[in-house]
Amino acid sequence: MAFSFAQSTFFSKPSLFLHKNGFRSLSFSLSFSPCFCTSAALSSDKIRHQKWRQPVVASVLELGGVKISKDDVVRDDPTNNVPDSIFTKLGMQLHRRDQHPIGILKNAIYSYFDTTYSKKFDKFDNLCPIVSVKQNFDDVLVPEDHVSRSYNDTYYVDPETVLRCHTSAHQAELLRKGHTHFLVTGDVYRRDSIDSTHYPVFHQMEGFRVFNPEDWEPSGMDGTSYAAEDLKKCLEGLARHLFGAVEMRWIDTYFPFTNPSFELEIYFQEKWLEVLGCGVTEQEILKRNGRTNNVAWAFGLGLERLAMVLFDIPDIRLFWTTDERFTSQFSDGQLGVKFKSFSKYPPCFKDMSFWINGSFTENNLCEVVRGIAGDLVEEVRLIDNFTNKKGRTSHCYRIAYRSMERSLTDEEINDLQWRVRDQVETKLNVELR
Ligand code: DAH
Repeated sequence: MAFSFAQSTFFSKPSLFLHKNGFRSLSFSLSFSPCFCTSAALSSDKIRHQKWRQPVVASVLELGGVKISKDDVVRDDPTNNVPDSIFTKLGMQLHRRDQHPIGILKNAIYSYFDTTYSKKFDKFDNLCPIVSVKQNFDDVLVPEDHVSRSYNDTYYVDPETVLRCHTSAHQAELLRKGHTHFLVTGDVYRRDSIDSTHYPVFHQMEGFRVFNPEDWEPSGMDGTSYAAEDLKKCLEGLARHLFGAVEMRWIDTYFPFTNPSFELEIYFQEKWLEVLGCGVTEQEILKRNGRTNNVAWAFGLGLERLAMVLFDIPDIRLFWTTDERFTSQFSDGQLGVKFKSFSKYPPCFKDMSFWINGSFTENNLCEVVRGIAGDLVEEVRLIDNFTNKKGRTSHCYRIAYRSMERSLTDEEINDLQWRVRDQVETKLNVELR
């Protein structure tokens, strides 16, 4: 069995699998606000090697050639669920820092593709993360009622605009522009639970390769089998490039955009680790984007998940720290240098019980806690759950507070916890016990 680690692929999460035709939690009649990232964002990939910016304090960002102001992205209206803390992440682009584990890993994957395919793959790492619902879901055939479209799972800027939840959002547009071999790296955003392997922003890389009939015909195979075989060979090579001579296995799975679909797992440090999702692209996607006589493969991988294993990084929040004791341990081109923990300050646990209502979700709770405690919250875990005779359900959550950088005082933690209690009560409309 694969062990669950750092943001498993969105569409293959067991829970989403089961709810392939899940629910859509909210629907809105309002429709307004422009879509920010037009094709201008896609074409502008110029500042690739520019030095990364300091944490953003400005209220206007420039992303992929598009100016984005905070007021456009974070608004106090019910069709918008993007908090301030997420806006500040939009310009960070960890994947474009050559000295950061995420950037180092991206570069290692790029160099595998450059060598194996003589630089045939076009690379994009500065496409705007604000995309339309069409790009994020419709273009890659995510069903109308798929759970991933819900406000509980995805950050909506307005009913037609989201923070991309996967780099697959760029497949269709790049295909239409004529690209046949490409890699897209970027920050992706998902509302989620809180623990050492989940963070609402993480990084993915998408790969895509288109074949012509002349590619597969000489082999005597049909296009789909040819592409599937090529895909597996390519990704097995990539896994060996990153992890050395590891044991691997392929698992059949489901994604809306590929058929057949697979996951690659490797046996590493005595566990099966899910490395990526992939498959042969649905013909419908190719057809809609001007590639009727072609076959293609695609894959998507989560960079944090792999970087945590390759660099021995125990907590996903560390990727965001600016503490020199972390940043100074990594350098350009050094894949797999083992991170040496510089401190382990003790966690402080606080429990909180309340009667939930019909619209309560754990993601909403986590959003409130992160909004107050930021990266000082390490985990939010349900430790008790019961329904009384009257049919009311009570949840007890244990919140672990811990800084990666310093000791927290009792006073500071108590203050955080009081604010959390207060906002949980008012924003989530639950009754504290
Ligand atoms: N978009 C998927 C996710 O976020 C990952 C993925 C799976 C991408 C299969 C692909 C693919 O291109 O073919 O979970």
